[in-house]
Amino acid sequence: MEFTTLKTLTDGIIDLVVEFHYNGHGNYGVLPFYRCGIYLAGAPVKVGNLTLRIQPTRPNPREIEQLLYEGNIGYSIFEPYRGKGYAGRACKLAAKIARQHALTELLINCNVENKASMRVIEKLGAQKVKEFDTPASHLDENDPTPRRAQFRWRIDAE
Ligand SMILES: CC(C)(COP(=O)(O)OP(=O)(O)OC[C@H]1O[C@@H](n2cnc3c(N)ncnc32)[C@H](O)[C@@H]1OP(=O)(O)O)[C@@H](O)C(=O)NCCC(=O)NCCS
Repeated sequence: MEFTTLKTLTDGIIDLVVEFHYNGHGNYGVLPFYRCGIYLAGAPVKVGNLTLRIQPTRPNPREIEQLLYEGNIGYSIFEPYRGKGYAGRACKLAAKIARQHALTELLINCNVENKASMRVIEKLGAQKVKEFDTPASHLDENDPTPRRAQFRWRIDAE
């Protein structure tokens, strides 16, 4: 997969900075991803992180499995900076990278008890697909309770 040459995307409030990318051939799963820092626009103040996973146009069964259980996007905002809409802004900037990979929709999975994240997803206009239990092999050590809601976020109309 060819990664974008874009390094920093901005909406004037936050900057999304590509800090690392992974080609899908190592210890971090089969899907390539971008790991981005979220910064206050034009300032060296980091407020959170976002991961964007990219599946190929014709994903194989292992790629589909990781996508369904982990989603395309994961994010976190450091506590002092929460409640300012930064996670949603970062998702919208990440969608620009996803479009460069010809993706027209993104899956976002969220712990059913995570009201703040659910709100972020709702404000993006994503549609709930289903709830499911994440198998241990796809659980994040920071979020070990398995029940997840899966949302589909269309990004082709933005
Ligand atoms: C979920 C998270 C990313 C939301 O990011 P954010 O940039 O604060 O999102 P928003 O500013 O849009 O706020 C979302 C909701 O959080 C709640 N909220 C508001 N202020 C808050 C604060 N100071 N602290 C926590 N939650 C707050 C509100 O319900 C808000 O909804 P509203 O806009 O309708 O009032 C952030 O809370 C976080 O990093 N949590 C820990 C990691 C995590 O859960 N990641 C998501 C995994 S799927």
